[in-house]
Amino acid sequence: TPISNITHESILRCLFHHSVPHNLLYTKSTASYTTLLQSSIQNQRFNTPTTPKPFLIVSPTLESHVQATVNCSRNHGLQIRVRSGGHDYEGLSYVSHDPPFLVLDLHSLSSIRVDTNHGTAWVQAGATIGELYYRIAEKNKTAGFPAGLCPTLGIGGHLSGGGFGTMLRMYGLAADNIIDARLVNANGEILDRESMGEDFFWAVRGGGGASFGVILAYKIELVYVPPKVTVFTKSINLSQGATRVTSKWQRIAYKLDDRLFIRAVMQVVSDEKSSRTIQVGFESLFLGEKEELLALIGKSFPELGLKAEDCQEMSWIESVPYFAGYKNGESPSILLDRKPQFNLSYKAKSDFLTEPITELGWERIWQELLRGEEQATIVVDPYGGRMDEISESETPFPHRKGSLYNIQYLVGLGEGGAKGMKKHLDWIRSFYQFMASYVSKNPRAAYLNYRDLDLGSDRVGSTTYTKARVWGRRYFKSNFERLAMVKGKVDPGNFFRNEQSVPPLFPAY
Ligand code: FDA
Repeated sequence: TPISNITHESILRCLFHHSVPHNLLYTKSTASYTTLLQSSIQNQRFNTPTTPKPFLIVSPTLESHVQATVNCSRNHGLQIRVRSGGHDYEGLSYVSHDPPFLVLDLHSLSSIRVDTNHGTAWVQAGATIGELYYRIAEKNKTAGFPAGLCPTLGIGGHLSGGGFGTMLRMYGLAADNIIDARLVNANGEILDRESMGEDFFWAVRGGGGASFGVILAYKIELVYVPPKVTVFTKSINLSQGATRVTSKWQRIAYKLDDRLFIRAVMQVVSDEKSSRTIQVGFESLFLGEKEELLALIGKSFPELGLKAEDCQEMSWIESVPYFAGYKNGESPSILLDRKPQFNLSYKAKSDFLTEPITELGWERIWQELLRGEEQATIVVDPYGGRMDEISESETPFPHRKGSLYNIQYLVGLGEGGAKGMKKHLDWIRSFYQFMASYVSKNPRAAYLNYRDLDLGSDRVGSTTYTKARVWGRRYFKSNFERLAMVKGKVDPGNFFRNEQSVPPLFPAY
C-alpha cells in the first residue's frame, strides 16, 4: 500500500514540529536515501529492486528524536522498524512485508562510556560490538565483554536478543551481563530500569527489543580477561579422521574447563583431487596461556593432535579480529570499521542439541551434506559452564542447562538467479527436516537472534497469541507466555510489531 501524500506530508510536519531537523529525514527523493538504506544491510537477499522499502528513514542524533518518531508514527497509525546494526537474518529491521513503514536507523546514537572504576559501561544501541570491545580494551586491558563474534553486530538487536560468543562458557550471554537500560516505550516516554520495572527489564534481555520499545542504551557489566589468551584453529577433513575427532569433541566440549571454548565449523570443500569432502575447523579461545591449554587438551582431547605451533598467544582484544576472520594479525582498530564485512545473500536456521550426535550420526550428516551441490556451512557452538548455572526463566533466553550445543545452518543463495535461490532454499529446508531426529524436541528449539521466518509468521499486527505461540515457544519455551503478558502491559496497542513479534496477552479476569 503506497502511503498517501497527505499522510506523508503530515508525518513530516509532525516530526519538524517535534524538532527533528530536515537533514535527519530521508525520503525516497533524498539523494542519499539509498546509500543510507543500504549502509548496514547484511543480507543481500533483502536488497533487491522488489524488496519493500521504507517511505522514510529517520536517523536520530538525540534521544528526543526517537521519542518524536515514536509519537508521530503512533499518532498516524504507522508501523516503524528499528535498526541498529542491520544483521537481522530476515531483514526485519529495514523491511516490512506489510508496508507502509518507516525505518528508525540508530547508527548515529553510538556513544560508549566506559567506567573503569566500577567495571561498567553505558553503550548506545547504534554502536557496534566491535566498537564496544575496542573502547573497553582502550581503557583497561584486562576487561572485556562476552558478546558475538562479528564486530559489526549492533548493540540494539544483538543484546536485546541474547548474544553469545567465545566467552559464553565463562560468562554467559551478553544479555546476562546487562544491568540497566534506557528505552523509549510505546507512549514515547524514556524509561530506565527503575521506571520500567523488573518485568519490562526482563523482557529486553533476550526477548528481542523489536516487540517492546526502542532501546536507546544498555548499561553493562564488564568481565575480567587475563592479559594473555590463547587461540587456535585446527582443520581436519574426512580422510584425516574428522568423524572420529568430531564425535569425541561432541562428547566433551560442553563439559571442559569454563575458560575453554572450542567451536566446530563444518563445511563442504574440495580436496586435492577436486572431490567434495567435509572439513571441520575447530576454532578455540582459551582464557589463559598456551602451556596450560596444551595440558588441558592433552588430557581431555588428545585426538585433536594439538601442538604448540598450532596455538597463538595474544591479548583478548587481538583475539576479537581473529575470530571475526582476520587471521593475519590485523590491528584491533579494524573493529571500528562499520562497513559490512560480507556481501552475501543467505538463509540460516538454528537448532539446539540436548545430546551428543554419535559417530554414525555424523557419518549420515556428512553424506547428506555431500549429496547435493550446495556450499553449506554448519557452525556448532558448545554451551555448558556458566550457561548451566542460569535458570531457564532468569531471562527470556531459555536454552540453558541441558542445551549442550547450538547449531546454525547456513547456505548461500547468490548462485543461479531466481531458480538457484529456490533450489538453495529448498535444500536448507530439507536438510533441516533431515536433522530433526538429532536435535531438541517438543519444542524443537531455535535462537531468536538467528531469526527464521520458516518457523511461522503472520501479517504484521494481526497475529494472535495462539498463533504466535507456534514460533514463540521455539525461541522462548515457557517464557513466551510471560513475554506476551509483559507486552500486554507495556504495549497493549501493539505499536511495536513485525512479522514475528510477541503479541499482547491480557490476564483473564
Ligand atoms: P538489526 O538492526 O537488524 O536488528 C535485529 C532486530 O532487533 C530487528 O528486529 C530490529 O528491529 C531489532 N532492533 C534493533 N535495534 C533495536 C533497538 N535499538 N531497539 C529495539 N529493537 C531493535 N549472534 C550471536 O549471538 N553471536 C554471533 O556471533 C553472531 N554472529 C553473527 C554474524 C553475522 C554476519 C550476522 C548477520 C548475524 C550474527 N548473529 C550473531 C546474529 C545477531 O545477533 C542478530 O542478527 C542480531 O539481532 C543483530 O543485531 P543488529 O542490531 O545488528 O541487527
